Amino acid sequence: MATTSLVKLNAASSNWIGQHSFTQRTGSSSSSSVAFPTRRVSLPVVRASSYVDELVQTAKTIASPGRGILAIDESNATCGKRLASIGLDNTEANRQAYRQLLLTTPGLGEYISGSILFEETLYQSTTNGKKFVDCLREQNIVPGIKVDKGLSPLPGSNNESWCQGLDGLASRSAEYYQQGARFAKWRTVVSIPCGPSALAVKEAAWGLARYAAVSQDNGLVPIVEPEILLDGDHPIERTLEVAERVWAEVFFYLAQNNVVFEGILLKPSMVTPGAEHKEKASPESIAKHTLQMLRRRVPPAVPGIMFLSGGQSEVEATLNLNAMNQSPNPWHVSFSYARALQNSVLKTWQGHPENAEAAQKALLVRAKANSLAQLGRYSAEGEDEEAKKAAAPAPGEGKGKGVWAVMVVVAIVGAGKGYGGGDGGSNSGGYGGKKGKGK
Ligand code: 13P
Repeated sequence: MATTSLVKLNAASSNWIGQHSFTQRTGSSSSSSVAFPTRRVSLPVVRASSYVDELVQTAKTIASPGRGILAIDESNATCGKRLASIGLDNTEANRQAYRQLLLTTPGLGEYISGSILFEETLYQSTTNGKKFVDCLREQNIVPGIKVDKGLSPLPGSNNESWCQGLDGLASRSAEYYQQGARFAKWRTVVSIPCGPSALAVKEAAWGLARYAAVSQDNGLVPIVEPEILLDGDHPIERTLEVAERVWAEVFFYLAQNNVVFEGILLKPSMVTPGAEHKEKASPESIAKHTLQMLRRRVPPAVPGIMFLSGGQSEVEATLNLNAMNQSPNPWHVSFSYARALQNSVLKTWQGHPENAEAAQKALLVRAKANSLAQLGRYSAEGEDEEAKKAAAPAPGEGKGKGVWAVMVVVAIVGAGKGYGGGDGGSNSGGYGGKKGKGK
């Protein structure tokens, strides 16, 4: 499946290969003072995924004007916390009811181009027996799948973590493709208060690059997500510095792994001050710093930048996106929000079937607002007060995202056990550590 005669067109990766091994001396002695002519050595041809055209097309569909991603890939554990916030038990039926509400919202496809699902949802159907992937396809929404297996402590680092999930990834990805997924997500984290150490950054970048190569080889467009956690009291300039370092390494290894840049999507954190910093930044300042980082690090071959909301309020996340789209960008600059699309929906729904329609309307309000922000035409006038509130942490979730992650790592290391709890657990595959900032 993975090999055809297609040769990668990726300039960055070709250049990288060129720098390292194209020339070789002829002749028997390299110590001779006679200058031997050099000759070109033909390298084994790097073959691209047989899916390359499809990957490019999928990425373009997701990065289409006025649309973005609805992320509902919470692990069962995290979904349970969301449900607990409205008094519902964490049962498969409740998770299905909630996802059904979201994925069957009439008119969603006008604003949403892709939806990231957790494995359970990818294989689930509505209560009427219609597969969720078919509900999405009908609305021209591309189904996606979270493929990482969560975070684990990184030995030798400063209490940092690394992302699990490469083992068996190829066969899992092939199955997800069969089931209808066309893109994937892998989230790893970088903590500024923890350093970040060179080791953690390198590991994050290498893991993302290996995952991206495997995904492309199996027909899935990889979303590359090194989340730089909001925690800390650092100024925005420090976040910019770390983000530049992280993305430089990510692109270095993506190129080294011969990933086709035209067939990936990025999911960065916005460049903001640390959540505990004394001053809050304006949307204009966040946009300026974030775009500066992206222009310095992301080649225009990449079709789309789909931001995470990271614990910002719904309105905040939309305003920041809008500010980034006030002038043309080399890439589609859009959203891949979970909390900033779902908070009002949950509050409206409360688990009551009679509220389902109103909850779907609430989803459309958020989706449309972000669609306008993608086009740079959003105004917060008339927005609901609730939508201006920061994403509230669910019961049992820590205050800060990174703080939470570190606490879990420390607690589990301290207990001498594997990192199996919460959303970072290897089998939960959740995006633990991304908790409401409550800022
Ligand atoms: P948030 O928008 O809640 O930060 O989640 C993003 C995410 O990575 C889910 O896929």
